[in-house]
Amino acid sequence: MQELDKNRIPAHVALICDGNGRWAKKRGMPRTYGHRKGGFVIRDTVQNAAKLGIKAVTFFCFSTENWNRPEDEVKYLMTAPAKFLKRYMKDLASTNARIRMLGRRDRLPKIFMDVINEVEEKTKDHTGIICNLCIDYGSYDEITTAVKKIASEYKDGNITLDDITPALIEGNLFTKDLPKLDLLIRTSGECRISNFLLWQLGYAELYFTDTLWPDFDNNELIKAIADYQKRDRRFGGIKNENK
Ligand code: IPE
Ligand code: MG
Repeated sequence: MQELDKNRIPAHVALICDGNGRWAKKRGMPRTYGHRKGGFVIRDTVQNAAKLGIKAVTFFCFSTENWNRPEDEVKYLMTAPAKFLKRYMKDLASTNARIRMLGRRDRLPKIFMDVINEVEEKTKDHTGIICNLCIDYGSYDEITTAVKKIASEYKDGNITLDDITPALIEGNLFTKDLPKLDLLIRTSGECRISNFLLWQLGYAELYFTDTLWPDFDNNELIKAIADYQKRDRRFGGIKNENK
């Protein structure tokens, strides 16, 4: 296993958990079998990330566009997180994790939202790793909602044009109280962002791996972080020794 520099652990890691369907297909199983295994892997990743000292993990579980999938799969994906949370609540709580959902809350079934609300309430004072589950999440939607809110504040005379700054925009996103995003991991060999955290990715490092999400284990997480630690993050500046 690779050695990591304890002083350069990313604070906030986002993960696009892709490849569940292909993983299941390879085994001659229905896609939902892959989603089920994907759920276990989310739980394990939260625990592994907490052990490494990562402060926040944000998982892309269901996007605003995933509603276009076959009805059966959508139905499965809508009930799976509630089952997942009921099953793993204890495991995650034992790492003192704070669990939250990021995304639209107006289109999800009530039975699902009840579980989410309960889990968020029960874990809200936990001081361990923050685990964000992005469900019915899409960046276009998140940014549009923020713009509407700011426009209405402006219309009501509560803010002036000069008050509209990157910080104000950031403060109106779902991620407002999270550490800055350091690293994005996408599994399954696809090299795109798929409408995920577009604003927040501004200066994050991107890591793509061919590994399918159900196979993403602690070793894979460590490999991604080791790769991140090799990067020279300049944030638009230049290397120190070149100054
Ligand atoms: C990722 O796996 C999980 C979700 C987006 C819900 P996919 O369902 O996208 O699996 P592939 O990409 O078809 O293999
Ligand atoms: Mg996919």
